[in-house]
Order: sequence, then structure tokens, then C-alpha cells
Amino acid sequence: MAKLIAGVTTSHVPAIGAALDNGKSGEPYWQPVFKGYERSKQWIKDAKPDVIILVYNDHASAFSLEIIPTFALGCAEEFPPADEGWGPRKVPVVKGHPDLAWHIAQSVILDEFDLTIVNKMPVDHGLTVPMSLLYGQPAAWPVRVIPLCVNVIQYPPPTGHRCYMLGKAIRKAVESFDQDLRVVIFGTGGMSHQLQGPRAGLINSEFDARFLDAFASHPDKLVKIPHLEYMREAGSEGIELVMWLIARGALDDDAKEIYRFYHVPASNTAVGHMILENRA
Ligand SMILES: [Fe+2]
Repeated sequence: MAKLIAGVTTSHVPAIGAALDNGKSGEPYWQPVFKGYERSKQWIKDAKPDVIILVYNDHASAFSLEIIPTFALGCAEEFPPADEGWGPRKVPVVKGHPDLAWHIAQSVILDEFDLTIVNKMPVDHGLTVPMSLLYGQPAAWPVRVIPLCVNVIQYPPPTGHRCYMLGKAIRKAVESFDQDLRVVIFGTGGMSHQLQGPRAGLINSEFDARFLDAFASHPDKLVKIPHLEYMREAGSEGIELVMWLIARGALDDDAKEIYRFYHVPASNTAVGHMILENRA
């Protein structure tokens, strides 16, 4: 049977991808960011997942205001990198896992979560930057990826509680799939940042630290945070943190914290990263 072994959370700042793609990862500004992921790269090499379920948000690359799915699961064979205005990133095409994706869709929808099924979708920096941070610059990604897009762009996004419960339904789906697969779930986005308006550039390291602490050991506290509190404390784009709660819901309550990294700023965003392993 498939096994959900661990969760990885990380910011998906687009400038990190640009720094890597343009050979700037060794520059003084970027070096501390990439250094913070060195241990993680070794961890994932050792963990050898077969499949990653990668929770992220699309930034008007695959979807627009014409269609706004709250949760969209990628069931295709592959997903090309999106053109976000400067041509697609020169990263490998993402290979999906249609059998597991369709199994998750069936299990989760019958558990009363109304997913949108997507059979064609380019994937933007929300997905490709976390892949680059954990795997570097390989010729092909050494893992299958099931994209799960969450609407955190247009009000109303899902609540943290809904995300957390979806994570639990995904765990159940994965562990009822009859192939021996090692599965890791990624929750991406955040941490505190605001890209526009009078508070553009906002970073709240105290909020981020509290969030990281609770994420590791008391996620029940986080599921109650209302949208307005994310807006007020973590900035308008801080709402992306609800996506971390999908990953957290898929993990054991007492999952073990393996690694944590926090750095400010990267571009105008607080970078947060954590790895948690299930105990069994
Ligand atoms: Fe984002």
C-alpha cells in the first residue's frame, strides 16, 4: 500500500527561481537562502519519495478570474512549466501520477470534498520553485508530482480548517491506494508578505515564529485563525499559509519535526520552511 511518510512546507517566492535560473544563487543576497535548503536536499535524497503531492496556488498562469476552482487536482500525465511573462522557466516538465491522482479524486470527492479535476495545466513558480529548492537543477525531476492548486488569490479562499480536513482526507486516500509508493506532501506559499497597497513589504517575524511553533506541535491552534487575522498579521499574501495546513492535516498529530529554516527577506517575503516526518 502507499504510505504518506512526511510533509515539507516552504515559501515559493518567484525571485528564488529567477536567482537559481540566472546563476545568482551564490551571490551574498541569495546564498543564505539556498544554504538553508542544503540539509533538505540531502533529506529528500535519502527519503526517496516516489510521489509528491504538491499543494500550491496558481498565480493567474493556468486559471484566471474566468474560472476560480477552490481546490484543483492535477490528474494529467504531465504538466509543462508555465510562461509567467519571461518565457517558461528552464526546468523539467513535471511528470504526474494519474493513477494515484484519480484515486485521490475518487476517495476525497466521495468523502464530500468537491475537487475540480484538471487534465491539462501549466504549472507556475508556486510549484516549480519548491521543486528547485529541494531538488536543485536536475535534467529530469526524479519523482512524480501531483499538483493540488488552492485558490488563495480571489476572495473567498477556503478556511484553514477546511484545508486541514482536506489534508486528512488526502492521507486516507493515499493510504488506501494499492501500490507500494512513498508519498510526501508539500504545503507551499507564505510566510508573511504583502505585495501591494500601503503595507507593501510587510513582514511579521513574530507571527511567523508563532506559526512555525504551532505548525510543528499544535496545529489545532492554527486551524482556527480567520482570514482577517492572516491579512492583519501576515499581510494580504500571508493567506497562502492555509495551504500549509493541507500538508499538516495529512500528517500524524505528533509528527516529528526534522528541520526548520527561516530567513528574511527574500525579495519582499519571509521565507519559512519545515520538514515533518510521520512516526510509523
Ligand atoms: Fe504564491
